[in-house]
Amino acid sequence: MESLIGCNFLTLKDFTTEQIQYFIDLSVDLKEKKKKGIAHEYCKGKNVALIFEKTSTRTRCSFEVAAHDLGMGSTYLDPSGSQIGKKESIADTARVLGRMYEGIEYRGFAQDIVEELAKYAGVPVWNGLTNEYHPTQMIADLLTIQERFGTLKGLKFVYMGDARYNMGNSLMIACAKMGMHFTACTSAKYFPNEELVAECKEYAKESGGTITLTEDVLEGTRNADVLYTDVWVSMGEPDEVWAERIADLTPYQVNMKALKNAKETAIFMHCLPAFHDIKTKIGKEVYEKYGLTEMEVTDEVFESPQSVVFDEAENRMHSIKAVMLATLGGYSL
Ligand code: CP
Ligand code: NVA
Repeated sequence: MESLIGCNFLTLKDFTTEQIQYFIDLSVDLKEKKKKGIAHEYCKGKNVALIFEKTSTRTRCSFEVAAHDLGMGSTYLDPSGSQIGKKESIADTARVLGRMYEGIEYRGFAQDIVEELAKYAGVPVWNGLTNEYHPTQMIADLLTIQERFGTLKGLKFVYMGDARYNMGNSLMIACAKMGMHFTACTSAKYFPNEELVAECKEYAKESGGTITLTEDVLEGTRNADVLYTDVWVSMGEPDEVWAERIADLTPYQVNMKALKNAKETAIFMHCLPAFHDIKTKIGKEVYEKYGLTEMEVTDEVFESPQSVVFDEAENRMHSIKAVMLATLGGYSL
């Protein structure tokens, strides 16, 4: 396998099936070490910068804990706490941070920005979510699926909701690379763009996977191994889109009917945060305006024994640790 040391981690498109499997296997190894209390400070003396132009709970905490466990220092730059984009260009920021840090995480808007950062930084850059892709989430998700089924190849993976954004795009790429059967089950308006679908069909040809797009919920969810959804309105999108999204995507809510139509052994996944009740500010506002008490997933499914969302959240940390370690070097399997 081609070495991962020094590589950027911007989208799974850039990695082979073997390299993706390596990230997963390294995550398994690091998770075991963490659980057993075996120290793994393989990157002692290094430092990483964590740039967040959008908010985060899981990704930020995962990078900070993982960096600490690997023996590294970390600096968190919040959406308002740096000059990035306002007083200083991405190229200049990259060249400054590249002089001080061994790696840089970036969460923000267009994929072009993280690519520009990577072009100039001279150290590995990790994409912590852009509008187009969320690749660190993919390693956690694949790890979670592998833990449940022992394998990835051949599984039927169904994504319901807005399949044109970071999560839908990234999951389609991840499944296509790993020989899984990916179905986007949603209104045609929310299918991933044709160019990406064509690209993923090529990956799938090689890996033995398939890509299916359907508006039919019964057909889409039938015999599924995994049902996956994400919020209907993503960070950075305007509030005005809520009404349209609710109207378009309510038929594609993950509810008990959809889950029962999947295999008995099926699992429910969500990258989180999720709107499954009205215990959040936005959840309450949507309830007051549109009368919905749950959105992309019902509370019943979210809280069911088939839901693995908190394993998935924990796995963010182990897999982000693996991504940093594999690209910084210091230990390999
Ligand atoms: N899943 C995920 O990326 O969560 P955060 O937005 O909390 O980082
Ligand atoms: N699609 C969501 C994912 C959050 C992890 C967003 O971009 O807000």
